[in-house]
Amino acid sequence: MPALNLGIMASHTGTNFQALLDACNQGCLNATCRVVISNNSGSMALRRARSQGVPGYHLSAKTHPSSTELDRAIGNTLADHEVDLVVLAGYMKLLGPITLSRYRGRILNIHPALLPDFGGRGMHGKKVHAAVLASRSKFTGVTIHLVDEEYDHGLIIAQAKVPVLKHDNVESLRTRVQEREHEFYVETLQKIISGDIRLPAQT
Ligand code: GRF
Repeated sequence: MPALNLGIMASHTGTNFQALLDACNQGCLNATCRVVISNNSGSMALRRARSQGVPGYHLSAKTHPSSTELDRAIGNTLADHEVDLVVLAGYMKLLGPITLSRYRGRILNIHPALLPDFGGRGMHGKKVHAAVLASRSKFTGVTIHLVDEEYDHGLIIAQAKVPVLKHDNVESLRTRVQEREHEFYVETLQKIISGDIRLPAQT
């Protein structure tokens, strides 16, 4: 597959977006971050985008009170920037039917655990790692999956294991998983670009 145009969607810090942008700039990822969309006008992800030359848009219920209009604006913004693949990187909202049908099979999300465990509505941030620790699992990890109408639900594309260590707390586990996320999103996207991983939409 030739170089991909990525459309990033992020709600908060945007460290995964930053890892992808760095990989594109360093030539480790044959892709371009064409646009960042955030539902949070004050997000670090939007600040990172705008300060590094990537167009950044705040699109939310505040800018578009009608959910249909918001959905249409998201879909149009992605299309206007000729996005091939939509990459959710800490985006906290569900996508609407217009965007989902336009990009069906071409929207990825990253989750900081081994789905289907420790996922779903409300399972985000520190809650995920606290639940992993409470379960006494020996491993957690990173999941990259296709996005559908439900939280953390679509077809799993790739997973990487991360060990849970004896003295881990939520913060130490979060840090180790996040480091793996940054590498693994780049590795997995590069495999999609090279054809080593085929998305159903490509077959
Ligand atoms: C990541 O842990 C990701 O797995 C989850 O949201 C977090 C986003 O972190 N979906 P960041 O904004 O990329 O730092």
